[in-house]
Amino acid sequence: MGLASWVVNNFVASAVLLLCSVSINVAAAGKQVQGEGQKLRFGQNGEFKILQVADMHYADGEKTGCLDVLPSQVPGCSDLNTTAFTQRMILAEKPDFIVFTGDNIFAYDAADSAKSLDAAFAPAIASKIPWAAVLGNHDQEGTLSREGVMKHIVGLKNTMSQFNPPEAHVIDGFGNYNLEVGGVKGSGFENKSALNLYFLDSGDYSTVPSILGYGWIKPSQQFWFQHTSAKLKKAYMSPPKAQKAAAPGIAYFHIPLPEFASFDSSNFTGVKQEGISSASVNSGFFTTMVEAGDVKAVFTGHDHLNDFCGELTGIQLCYAGGFGYHAYGKAGWPRRARVVVASLEKTKEGNWGAVKSIKTWKRLDDEHLTAIDGQVLWSKSSAGNKRKKGIIGA
Ligand SMILES: *[C@@H]1O[C@H](CO)[C@@H](O)[C@H](O)[C@H]1NC(C)=O
Ligand SMILES: *[C@@H]1O[C@H](CO)[C@@H](O)[C@H](O)[C@H]1NC(C)=O
Ligand SMILES: *[C@@H]1O[C@H](CO)[C@@H](O)[C@H](O)[C@H]1NC(C)=O
Repeated sequence: MGLASWVVNNFVASAVLLLCSVSINVAAAGKQVQGEGQKLRFGQNGEFKILQVADMHYADGEKTGCLDVLPSQVPGCSDLNTTAFTQRMILAEKPDFIVFTGDNIFAYDAADSAKSLDAAFAPAIASKIPWAAVLGNHDQEGTLSREGVMKHIVGLKNTMSQFNPPEAHVIDGFGNYNLEVGGVKGSGFENKSALNLYFLDSGDYSTVPSILGYGWIKPSQQFWFQHTSAKLKKAYMSPPKAQKAAAPGIAYFHIPLPEFASFDSSNFTGVKQEGISSASVNSGFFTTMVEAGDVKAVFTGHDHLNDFCGELTGIQLCYAGGFGYHAYGKAGWPRRARVVVASLEKTKEGNWGAVKSIKTWKRLDDEHLTAIDGQVLWSKSSAGNKRKKGIIGA
C-alpha cells in the first residue's frame, strides 16, 4: 500500500513537469500537424473497415515451427502459416486499413529482427493497403531495441505508423500517434475527421524494481492523448458542419488495461481462457479515456487465449485473440483475427455524414475463415438515448 501511493506521487510529480512541455509543444505545432494522417478516409460505400492482427510472434519464417497446434498439425507448420493467414484475411475482408497490435515478432527466436519485421509485414505491404503497427513486449528481444524496431517499422512501405507525435517532444515509449479518418470525399464531412484512431506504446516490462511485471501507459502518453483528443473534438465541433459531440475514437495498443478484468461470461462476448496480464499497477489510462469521452472501444492483444469484448462505462474493451502460429495458443482452438467496421449515417440531404455505428466480428483460421461473435460495439442513437434517459452522463 505504501508502494502504491509512492507510485502515485511520482506519477503526479512527473505529470506536472510534463504537462508544461507537452502543452507548449502542442500549441506550437497545432497547424503543422495538419496533413499527417489525412490519407485515410471513408469509402463511397460509407464504411471504413479495419483488420486487427494481434501477436504474430514472427521469427525466421519457414525455419520457425508452430506452438500449440494439434500433433497432426505439427509437420509442415511454420511462420509461413502466419503469413498465409494474413493473406487470406486480407483477401476475404478487403479492409481499408490493417493494424498490428504488437508482439509482431518474437525477436528472441529471430536471427535478425529487421528481417523478421520485413517478413511479418510483407503481406500487408504487398496488399498496398495502408497499415500501422504498435510495439508489444517481445518486439525488442532481438537485434533491435524498441526504438530500433519502431524506426524500422516507420520506414516500411505503405505504413502510416509514426515514431512518435512530432508535437510532443517528451513522451515515453515509441510508436505513440493518432490517425484521422476523413469523411467521404465530396460529402459535407470531407474535411472532418469522422473517426479518430489512437495508437500507444503500452511498454514491455516495469523498470521500477519494486513493481514486478508488465509496463504501463505513462502520464506523458496520457497527456498527449488528452491534448490530441481535445484538439480533435474542438475541430469536429467547429464550423463548417459543427457537430454536437466529439467524433468517435478507437484505441489500439498491446497490453490490456487492468479494467479488462471487470467482466465475466455474463457480460462479455467471446471467451476468457486465461488471466488478464495487465501491469500490476493501474496508471489511470482507462479513466483518462472515460474523461476525454471520445474513445468508444479499445483493442489489445497480449493474452492470446482471450478474445472477448466487454463494455465498462461506455468503453468497449476488446481482445483480438492470438493470430500467430509461433505464439502460444491452444491446440484445436483456431488462430483468429478481429475486424472492425465503422459505418456512416446519411444526412437529411442524402449525403454521407457522421459515424452511425461501430461493429466487430472475428474470423477463425479454418477452411472457411468462419466469422464469429458479430456485435455492435457502439451506435450514435443508443448513446444519445442513454444520455437522454440519464443512464450515462448528466
Ligand atoms: C500450415 O500450412 C501448410 C502449408 O500450406 C498446411 O498444409 C497446413 O495445414 C497448415 N497448418 C495449419 C495448422 O494451419
Ligand atoms: C474542403 O476543403 C477544400 C479545400 O480547402 C474546399 O475546397 C472544400 O469546399 C471543403 N469542403 C467542405 C465540405 O467544406
Ligand atoms: C459483470 O458481471 C459480474 C457478475 O456476474 C459483475 O461482478 C461485474 O461487475 C459485471 N461487470 C460489468 C462491467 O458490468
